[in-house]
Amino acid sequence: MSESEFESRRRFLAFLAGTPLLAAAGVDLRHFRSLLAGPHDQQIEAFELAQDVAQDPLITAAGQAINVFDFEPVAKKNIPVAHWGYLMTGSDDDGTIQANRDAYQRWAMRMRRLVDVSKVDTSVSLFGTRFDTPIVLCPVGSQKAFHADGELAVARAAKARNHLQVLSTVATTSIEDVIAARGGPVWMQLYHRLDWAQTRQLVKRVERAGAPAVAFTVDLLGGSNRETLLRAQQVDTRECSNCHKGGKPAPGISGLIDDRDNRRKPNIAEFAPETPIPEVGTPTWDFVKRLKDTTSMKVLLKGIVTGEDAALAVQHGVDGLFVSNHGGRAENSLRGTIESLPEVVAAVRGRIPVELDGGVRRGTDIFKGLALGASAVGIGRPYIWGLGAFGQEGVETVLLLLRRELELVMKQAGTTSIARISKDRVVARGPRVS
Ligand SMILES: Cc1cc2nc3c(=O)[nH]c(=O)nc-3n(C[C@H](O)[C@H](O)[C@H](O)COP(=O)(O)O)c2cc1C
Repeated sequence: MSESEFESRRRFLAFLAGTPLLAAAGVDLRHFRSLLAGPHDQQIEAFELAQDVAQDPLITAAGQAINVFDFEPVAKKNIPVAHWGYLMTGSDDDGTIQANRDAYQRWAMRMRRLVDVSKVDTSVSLFGTRFDTPIVLCPVGSQKAFHADGELAVARAAKARNHLQVLSTVATTSIEDVIAARGGPVWMQLYHRLDWAQTRQLVKRVERAGAPAVAFTVDLLGGSNRETLLRAQQVDTRECSNCHKGGKPAPGISGLIDDRDNRRKPNIAEFAPETPIPEVGTPTWDFVKRLKDTTSMKVLLKGIVTGEDAALAVQHGVDGLFVSNHGGRAENSLRGTIESLPEVVAAVRGRIPVELDGGVRRGTDIFKGLALGASAVGIGRPYIWGLGAFGQEGVETVLLLLRRELELVMKQAGTTSIARISKDRVVARGPRVS
């Protein structure tokens, strides 16, 4: 290193020592400054100290994780940059992703004391099936883009810990294989086809495979603008069209069913891409009725964020709702999903179950969702971080950590079962929510 490079690094570190960053990382600032002011070898020591701070060591085994965030940098290291962009993207400037996270902080907990909490029961029942916890593995497309075992690893984790798994229409594993790996039914998420006959064929196949419920996703009917994905794709040096027939993604089209490339999507691979008979317009409430009339499965809608649509859904015989904004991938400038939840719950009046997802990363987030009336709470990216980092074991550990956090907060709040997590256990912090 030249004399001037050395001097400019030294000045930069002196500047860093004046910011809260080093102290926040646990560096003894007095010691650091004295090293920096000392002879050459001590200044080198200061450089190395700063380098250690900058390189927070990654976990090397799932069991080392303290919380779900520990999986994120490991997954990022393992996953190709364009696929990482697909995972992390929101819409426009990703504001709804942030809103989802921030919104949990608008509620504070109201703990109750002196309740016997030596035993807590986190189990829930959905359409007559019991699950060990209310934590749902939300549908996430193309999981083999994150780990070679993809949806199968997730199914095995769901089996090991008895969680509800919802499979994406655009999964890289078939519904039949996932149900076999889960050792029991999973729910199916539905993206409609332009041709109703194909939609019907897909729904019937899912029904035959043994899925008890289908969740029709209604928040991408106009497409979405995923800029983080587009930017990541630009820096990935691999040629997208080697694997994706449609080539690289284009602004505004992500999220619509892309008939150009279904080769690696076994749930829709049987449909010839060239011959869709387009429906007139995009789906409306008539489509929901048609779906209900077509299948014996429970029909849920995923992507509802208002009380008005929740009321319409009940009127149209829908069996359940996902309050969801697609993890901030559908539109920008939305509220956090937990802010939409109260009006949906009020409109539904307990008639059908309501799932909440979006930005759930902590046991307290899950608790707040349940307190505000959700029947179950879903995660997307966190379990994919686990998958990308350590495969099935990573997914299992994510589920375990969230369950532990939930159990802890349930005990602290004096709530020994999910049913006991009532609205009075949370309170709005500010004037923005009621
Ligand atoms: C990479 C990725 C792919 C997704 N694919 C689908 C999908 O195929 N169908 C769907 O309904 N939702 C899909 N979602 C949305 C999730 O089901 C869920 O609503 C969202 O991830 C929850 O937010 P979170 O990621 O902040 O936990 C996807 C989300 C991600 C991150």
